[in-house]
Amino acid sequence: MTIALASPIVIPFPARPATLGFKHVLSAAAFGSDALRSLFDVASAWKARPGVYAGALAGRTVVLLFEKPSLRTRLSFEIGASKLGAHVVYMDISKQRIGERESPEDYASNLSLWADAVVTRTYAHHTVEAMARASSVPVINGLSERHHPCQALADLLTMKERFGDLRGLKIAYVGDGNNVCDSLLIAGATVGADLMVICPPGYDPSPEAVRIASQRARASGAEIMITDEMEALHNRQVVYTDTWVSMGQDEEAAARQAVFAPYQINARAMSLAAPDAVFMHCLPAHRGHEVTDEVLDGPQSIALQQADNRLHAQNALLLHLLADPNA
Ligand code: CP
Ligand code: NVA
Repeated sequence: MTIALASPIVIPFPARPATLGFKHVLSAAAFGSDALRSLFDVASAWKARPGVYAGALAGRTVVLLFEKPSLRTRLSFEIGASKLGAHVVYMDISKQRIGERESPEDYASNLSLWADAVVTRTYAHHTVEAMARASSVPVINGLSERHHPCQALADLLTMKERFGDLRGLKIAYVGDGNNVCDSLLIAGATVGADLMVICPPGYDPSPEAVRIASQRARASGAEIMITDEMEALHNRQVVYTDTWVSMGQDEEAAARQAVFAPYQINARAMSLAAPDAVFMHCLPAHRGHEVTDEVLDGPQSIALQQADNRLHAQNALLLHLLADPNA
């Protein structure tokens, strides 16, 4: 279905998730290439015509259940969903993690009574998996220790805006093979990008993410490489990094700072990349550690465009999951 406006621009109505093959979003593996294309179309339509879907989620309620701190994920979901007319409830569970007072399954079955979707940020990935198994409404992973699918969605949307075609785009992810890396690897492989992960030995992406990404790569033509050599930044069009110490890893901080120091993204590292390379970071950044001020604040940085796209990509996702195409 399409909504034709008075002007010649035709706004695609979000495809139904049933036709796209997912109900919950636990990892970037939820998104096939058709789903990503549809999500990017809707996000771009919203950006081109802000407000075109205003009210599309009137009467819907989205619950945010967060065990860990957040600026971007929390506010981009809260503000984004309210722009679509949904009511949003934020529940801070940093002092009492899911499973302590009642089980993840009991959280999910109760939330399903009142909410139309649940976005959750957990320490353990199995918590969000258990919630999804017991939930009759969509559960969206707003970051677990293993995956950050909403981040990957916004990252690819940002790269698409910058470079047009994602197929063959030369991306380098430098640093810790963590949740952000794994999600980018899976989503990037789905769209046929050329992904180089540069990480110190022992901090590689998870074997599961590499397995899924390799499967996707066989279908899309993506290339996946993993190395510990910074010289592999040569000619990369995207240089992406994330913190060396993720939430929940504070006890390892000192050891990690030492291991990752040679992997800092600074002017020298950027000079190895393609002349038109962009710098990306999911944020929050730890200035002077994984990235220097001159790179993060410099002309090649598109980190704020990425942060802005969190809202647009997630709104597309909420529309796919919750909007009534016949309304
Ligand atoms: N990038 C990201 O998820 O930021 P927050 O931790 O602030 O949500
Ligand atoms: N890898 C980071 C991402 C924060 C958005 C973490 O898990 O803390």
